[in-house]
Amino acid sequence: MILSFWLLFWYFCSTGCAITITAENSEVWDEFTKYSQLKSWPYLSRARAAAIRTQRDVTANVSVAYSVTPGVDLTPVVFESLGYNADSLNDFRTLLNVGVQTFILDLYYHENSKAWLLCPPERLESIIGGGYTSDYDFTECDVATFNLTSLISTLNNFLSNTNNNLNTNVMFLLLKLHSFSTAPNVTMPASLVNTNVTSLSAQFDTIDKIVSPLTVPSFNLPTMNDLLFRLGLRVFPIILENNLYDNTSYNLLDDQFTFFISLKSGKTDQWDSYNILDMDVYHIEEFENATTIPLRTQHLAFAYDTSTRPFSLKSYRKSISLGYGPIISHALDNLSDISWFLELSCWSWSPYQPTSTDIDELQIPQIVSNISDYILNAPFTGHIFQHSDMFDNSSLNFIDSGTNNDTDDNNNENNDDNNEDDEYLNRCAALSKIGWIATTCDRKLPVVCQNLRNVSDFMLLDVEMDYMRAVSACKAMDGRYDIGVPRNVYDQITAMDLIPEDKEFVWINLNSLASENCWVVGLNTNCPYQLVTSTHVFVKMITPSTTMAVALAVALIILQSQRVPVHKNRRAWKRRIDEFSKNDIDGVPA
Ligand SMILES: *[C@@H]1O[C@H](CO)[C@@H](O)[C@H](O)[C@H]1NC(C)=O
Ligand SMILES: *[C@@H]1O[C@H](CO)[C@@H](O)[C@H](O)[C@H]1NC(C)=O
Ligand SMILES: *[C@@H]1O[C@H](CO)[C@@H](O)[C@H](O)[C@H]1NC(C)=O
Ligand SMILES: *[C@@H]1O[C@H](CO)[C@@H](O)[C@H](O)[C@H]1NC(C)=O
Ligand SMILES: *[C@@H]1O[C@H](CO)[C@@H](O)[C@H](O)[C@H]1NC(C)=O
Ligand SMILES: *[C@@H]1O[C@H](CO)[C@@H](O)[C@H](O)[C@H]1NC(C)=O
Ligand SMILES: *[C@@H]1O[C@H](CO)[C@@H](O)[C@H](O)[C@H]1NC(C)=O
Ligand SMILES: *[C@@H]1O[C@H](CO)[C@@H](O)[C@H](O)[C@H]1NC(C)=O
Ligand SMILES: *[C@@H]1O[C@H](CO)[C@@H](O)[C@H](O)[C@H]1NC(C)=O
Ligand SMILES: *[C@@H]1O[C@H](CO)[C@@H](O)[C@H](O)[C@H]1NC(C)=O
Ligand SMILES: *[C@@H]1O[C@H](CO)[C@@H](O)[C@H](O)[C@H]1NC(C)=O
Repeated sequence: MILSFWLLFWYFCSTGCAITITAENSEVWDEFTKYSQLKSWPYLSRARAAAIRTQRDVTANVSVAYSVTPGVDLTPVVFESLGYNADSLNDFRTLLNVGVQTFILDLYYHENSKAWLLCPPERLESIIGGGYTSDYDFTECDVATFNLTSLISTLNNFLSNTNNNLNTNVMFLLLKLHSFSTAPNVTMPASLVNTNVTSLSAQFDTIDKIVSPLTVPSFNLPTMNDLLFRLGLRVFPIILENNLYDNTSYNLLDDQFTFFISLKSGKTDQWDSYNILDMDVYHIEEFENATTIPLRTQHLAFAYDTSTRPFSLKSYRKSISLGYGPIISHALDNLSDISWFLELSCWSWSPYQPTSTDIDELQIPQIVSNISDYILNAPFTGHIFQHSDMFDNSSLNFIDSGTNNDTDDNNNENNDDNNEDDEYLNRCAALSKIGWIATTCDRKLPVVCQNLRNVSDFMLLDVEMDYMRAVSACKAMDGRYDIGVPRNVYDQITAMDLIPEDKEFVWINLNSLASENCWVVGLNTNCPYQLVTSTHVFVKMITPSTTMAVALAVALIILQSQRVPVHKNRRAWKRRIDEFSKNDIDGVPA
């Protein structure tokens, strides 16, 4: 009897309470930021894992040249701050884990020993200048533990852990090549220069899933889907700067089957057209005061900062929303501060999204302006935020997915259709001025429709409707429209411009009705990832929700006549979807 009462209570509170929420805004806000990247450090947050995957899937048919990826310049952010040593490789690995997809890497060619080093000559200055004595203490730059080979094996370890349909994604390695030479009477200690790396291609060809200009010529970059799933490739090695001496003894042309080279590197005369990539790489300063979007053609585009003019959260976000992958190139007080930037690094979803909670976060008054005011407009002072109650880490134990050490763990948030997926309310996506936000499908909002024959033609139907009605309303227009979804950052800008002055949100064609946390385009689209789910981890990870499901089943028996609001809605939705059953195969690649 006591048990039944408890179940009764639990039953109402886990569902009913959630819907008629009376909590303070701050509690709702806590829920909203529950899976923030900062709390999940040093792993990818659950929300970002889902956001990055959705963004990848939505752009399946878009050229990889349009990717907008977060980046880091390893020299200032990792090596100069944290040391040229094996510990830094752990930090590199952490950056990979938390979803950094672009890296700038400086490589130094020692002309005398004909070896490639990770350590800059400035660090070896005292030795080069002749100050070397045999008892020199090499805490840094010791090639026995810190060398290009070990950096690549760190990368390969990450790649092999994420080579699955859920987590694979494109990456860019941007190389800056430098030469240095030492006077003939200077003997460099072997432990600093004997790297055994005499050929760059021999090293880079060992990278798993490396993209070669022979398979993927620079003038015809493939779509995301073709790259990742048809060709099964991921990592673009690109020479961003060639600062080798004119008289260098290294013949870079020997590496032409491995590397792409930036047109702006200037030294491309003898390179083939399939190697040469025209890229747009700008300093963030050039955007800061821009009122119009700099014209971005179908080139890879990046923006970087400097220590004298570091990214603010606002300029970082601006770079993303203009379609330029921001590359952080200033030292951070603490590497985990990068979480603040990464939280803003999807052009598609807004920060902290998509959340899987049992509350509808759009209940937070002025949520969009709050995020904008409190985060985007704040001068970046990571520690102030870190100490705020908003981001205490008390609920960490359930998080960590995406790029954990253990590949299988990646599937824990992809719980698929085991019928416990009714817990979460926010199954439909709305577009706001700061990106997509997950919300309840019952909400009444205007809808963005998209011309089926011209995908860049979006229009707004400014009638407030629930999600299902919104879908039919677009289709009903004149047969040429369907509910729309921005497929790239340009579509996103176009669609955002359609949001009426007096409204904050409009429906877009994205939902997770079929399976929680699996966001798909189209109403009848199944989650394409079921097959990846691994049972043993699945069971391990969802035990708490399984327990709840059992409790819920018991509660249902006890309260047969009652209906669980969420379940009721879900059934209603399922029914309506079935009624709606047109062949809507606009899905996500598997
Ligand atoms: C190397 O030679 C230069 C002059 O040619 C001299 O200035 C320098 O001190 C020498 N260094 C060593 C380590 O002998
Ligand atoms: C490079 O580092 C790895 C691992 O730290 C080590 O096993 C390897 O021997 C090093 N290579 C050289 C040439 O010292
Ligand atoms: C470097 O190359 C030399 C000669 O090829 C070899 O003797 C040595 O074992 C190599 N060192 C490492 C760490 O691979
Ligand atoms: C090669 O060029 C660099 C700088 O351009 C110069 O310092 C160096 O002495 C030159 N080396 C030779 C062997 O000419
Ligand atoms: C942008 O505006 C700021 C403040 O108005 C100014 O200090 C800065 O020089 C401007 N940057 C550029 C590139 O014009
Ligand atoms: C960096 O931040 C993390 C997490 O916020 C913290 O655990 C760590 O102690 C900090 N490191 C330093 C050097 O302050
Ligand atoms: C949102 O902003 C309003 C006005 O600035 C403020 O009163 C409210 O407390 C904020 N809500 C949250 C959850 O931060
Ligand atoms: C939360 O952070 C504190 C201090 O930063 C740390 O001692 C504690 O272990 C963390 N809790 C979890 C669950 O990680
Ligand atoms: C990841 O690996 C590190 C070191 O190998 C270990 O300490 C940590 O517990 C692992 N984390 C998970 C989630 O497996
Ligand atoms: C597609 O729609 C866009 C935006 O309305 C328009 O600029 C463009 O001309 C249209 N293209 C075609 C081929 O009609
Ligand atoms: C991509 O294009 C192909 C062929 O046009 C189509 O079958 C597929 O559904 C599209 N995928 C997405 C995600 O738009």
